[in-house]
Amino acid sequence: MCGVGEQSAQKTFYLETFGCQMNVHDSEKVVGTLVQEGYRQVETVEQADLILYNTCSIRDKAEQKVFHRLADFKKLQAQGKKFGVLGCVAQQEGEKIFERAPHVSLVCGSASYRNLPSMLVQLEAGKSPAAATTPVRITGLDDRQTEECFETEFTARTNPHRGYITIIEGCDKFCAYCVVPFTRGRERSRTSESVLVEARQMAEMGYTEIQLLGQNVNSYRDPTGKKSFAELLAAVGEVCGIRRVRFTTSHPRDFGRDIIEAIDAVPTLCDHVHLPVQSGSTRILEAMQRLYARDEYMERIAWIKAAKREISITTDVIVGFPGETESDFSETLNLLDEVGYDGVFSFKYSARPNTPALNLDDAIPEEEKSRRLEVLMAKQREIQISRYKKYVGQRCEVMVEGKNPARGQWIGRTSQNKTLNFTAGGSQQPTVGSYAPVLVTASFPNSLVGELVM
Ligand code: SAH
Ligand code: SF4
Ligand code: F3S
Repeated sequence: MCGVGEQSAQKTFYLETFGCQMNVHDSEKVVGTLVQEGYRQVETVEQADLILYNTCSIRDKAEQKVFHRLADFKKLQAQGKKFGVLGCVAQQEGEKIFERAPHVSLVCGSASYRNLPSMLVQLEAGKSPAAATTPVRITGLDDRQTEECFETEFTARTNPHRGYITIIEGCDKFCAYCVVPFTRGRERSRTSESVLVEARQMAEMGYTEIQLLGQNVNSYRDPTGKKSFAELLAAVGEVCGIRRVRFTTSHPRDFGRDIIEAIDAVPTLCDHVHLPVQSGSTRILEAMQRLYARDEYMERIAWIKAAKREISITTDVIVGFPGETESDFSETLNLLDEVGYDGVFSFKYSARPNTPALNLDDAIPEEEKSRRLEVLMAKQREIQISRYKKYVGQRCEVMVEGKNPARGQWIGRTSQNKTLNFTAGGSQQPTVGSYAPVLVTASFPNSLVGELVM
């Protein structure tokens, strides 16, 4: 009855997300769970009773960002606000977080989000004046060996047109540099049936684009043995109402030809594969424990290039892995030319806790890593300038994502995952979430420009 009274009594939370798409989607699950528990999401830390950070620890910088953010807002504790650390830093550092940031009351890893409701009850109970001087400390961490299902009941997807579905969690590959097997635990897949049920529900709600997620999405193993990854991909693409299906990230070792055959056969599967290579040198790939050699990676690239539709290829590269010589690095540079990527996410090697690479000799000095990164980025920029130019004069279908009012341009995304900003004359204005044909008129290294054609 009394809206204002109810509003002010309602518990509020602020959530900030760092890291990969898996974390972005996890945050949607956390928001859904908290809203179900009667919390309201707010836009600023000042408005919130509970401040949550969903964290990433893939590189040292990402982890430091979280502790800086926590330090920045420490003063808000005096106002009775509570802090929680979720995600990969939470899982990696565990209760040590309470020592480094004593104002934190909740530490919870990604496999324990289903327990958030009971953890929130405990947190609330600790709000009593008696407990106010000794902050409650609640942890939700698992041993990362559980087969526990990672599905949560409530998901508050932020975009009404395209949404994520996690099909596989964790990683068993243990690359020498990577924290993910420690923060996300061992690999576990959902049943193909539960994925399809969620895809159908999303289609009924009006979603037209689905992105299947996993640290290694193509390592998917249906626990019921009914579908391979390629078959699941095709089945999601055949769900009535779904117009686009994406999947990320693919591991080269598990990338089979059947994925390309599925893309060839099912038009809704997008013309894009993200296939992280990390290095062009077989010697370094071996040291990284990547489980493939350069020629095996190039064999997969050849399959992708032989597809019926032109498939855009993007990748991740690490420069300055311990022992990477100038000649190893030049092999990475010439691999960029050989493949002709449409996008490269490049990183300087960052030493991470618990990983085997910590014990390797021949660390590359920070300045040299920076130099290699710059050389690589400059080279890739040239490659993209010429690759993006090829699209000028072509017609592409975009999903309309929004409008940039300052520029008077609509923002669209092609099946190849390229950003295509376009103008629409007069009365022919598109709507967000619709699909529109656009003629490409100009190109930049990272985006295309065009005009709506009807
Ligand atoms: N499972 C995916 C990658 C997930 S992590 C795969 O194996 O390809 C995303 C990217 O972060 C990696 O591809 C890698 O390029 C980068 N990365 C991971 N650990 C890193 C580290 N210690 N230092 C620098 N970059 C790292
Ligand atoms: Fe990390 Fe390697 Fe697993 Fe990818 S495959 S998440 S890089 S350990
Ligand atoms: Fe970061 Fe964890 Fe993702 S470490 S990249 S948020 S899996």
